[in-house]
Amino acid sequence: MSTPRPLLIRHATLPDGRPDIDVLMQDGRIAAMAPALPAVPDAEEIDAQGWLLSPPFVDAHFHMDATLSLGLPRLNLSGTLLEGIALWGELKPQLTQEALVERALAYCDWAVARGLLAIRSHVDVCDPRLLAVEALLHVKQQVKPYLDLQLVAFPQDGVLRCPGALANLTRALDLGVDVVGGIPHFERTMADGAESVRLLCELAAERGLRVDMHCDESDDPLSRHVETLAVQTQRLGLHGRVTGSHLTSMHSMDNYYVSKLIPLMVEAQLQVVANPLINITLQGRHDTYPKRRGLTRVPELMAAGVNVAFGHDCVMDPWYALGSADMLEVASMGLHVAQMTGLAAMRRCFDAVTVNAAQVMGLEGYGLAVGARADAVLLQARSPEEAIRLRAARLVTVRGGHIVARSAPATVALQLPGRPLSVDFTRQAPR
Ligand code: FE2
Repeated sequence: MSTPRPLLIRHATLPDGRPDIDVLMQDGRIAAMAPALPAVPDAEEIDAQGWLLSPPFVDAHFHMDATLSLGLPRLNLSGTLLEGIALWGELKPQLTQEALVERALAYCDWAVARGLLAIRSHVDVCDPRLLAVEALLHVKQQVKPYLDLQLVAFPQDGVLRCPGALANLTRALDLGVDVVGGIPHFERTMADGAESVRLLCELAAERGLRVDMHCDESDDPLSRHVETLAVQTQRLGLHGRVTGSHLTSMHSMDNYYVSKLIPLMVEAQLQVVANPLINITLQGRHDTYPKRRGLTRVPELMAAGVNVAFGHDCVMDPWYALGSADMLEVASMGLHVAQMTGLAAMRRCFDAVTVNAAQVMGLEGYGLAVGARADAVLLQARSPEEAIRLRAARLVTVRGGHIVARSAPATVALQLPGRPLSVDFTRQAPR
């Protein structure tokens, strides 16, 4: 993209509640932020009219190699995680680079349209052809001007359980995949799971890489891989560079055990990604009633000081038939399932799909501040909680000071006698 004209967004409300702020974007960065900035020659001006200007949405956990493959080669009949993994195994031999690239690019279009400008995607490395790795590395370069795509080398079938997986994973890192993944609960035994965590963390430490493991994605209250991940993080000095994804077993664990586990996670500066849409639909499938929710202990982890993000995980793939790259839908589900209905809690759910997720990815220059990257999304809402409530329209999405997507404000024409001609769904509760 060429260097854009300066962009001056006037009269925005910020996520922290500051009203009537002008934001000047110049040379790819935020050059100034204050009320009533002076006019800038040649600048394009947008009147935000008091709408919420947020840093862009960030998805800290996704599977772009599987997205938009729904129905290929068949649908998931049981709706379980394990049938989803089996179904993905059936699809893998039929994958082509062209189809992978086409679906991933289509998804990135959806993402930009939703103001989602950074995605951490796991990519399955168990296929020795590494077709998906090569396809997504190609996509990563192609979308770089408008979307940060970070890739995790993910041994879907288990790095120890699947022959050749460790060699494939290492090759994927050599090719440029950014982060070391894992799936200890899918190894054959708890001991193998622990061993996989050890060797994958050592691999990351040797290469100076981050770690993000699918960890304890089950309803097993005795699963202990989060503990192992935290201990290996400490042993290898990887503090703040390791993420545990899903952690759904924590929902079912004994409370006394969790009272020991969370402080260990805090000491290791372990980061957490919960995936509310997927956890609520995949977990608890072996239960009759009551059915467990399967979401990890989000408010408790946040209260202890753990950085918790929400991920989308899946859209129209073997595990989940719905979704449209809407991180406000993800935040809304997280809010409901975790019962985070207080004002501060709702705002933490907004953070979970913006700043917290950016921290998981280690994004440089993220946020609305002078000197930060000129990336933002203008939402048709007056506050973060209203954005979640309304799944607010993304009026303008900006990347590096370029406008990359626009949409018309959501509106409905009413035809009722004696009533207004249009409906305005925005409405602020008194504080
Ligand atoms: Fe996942």
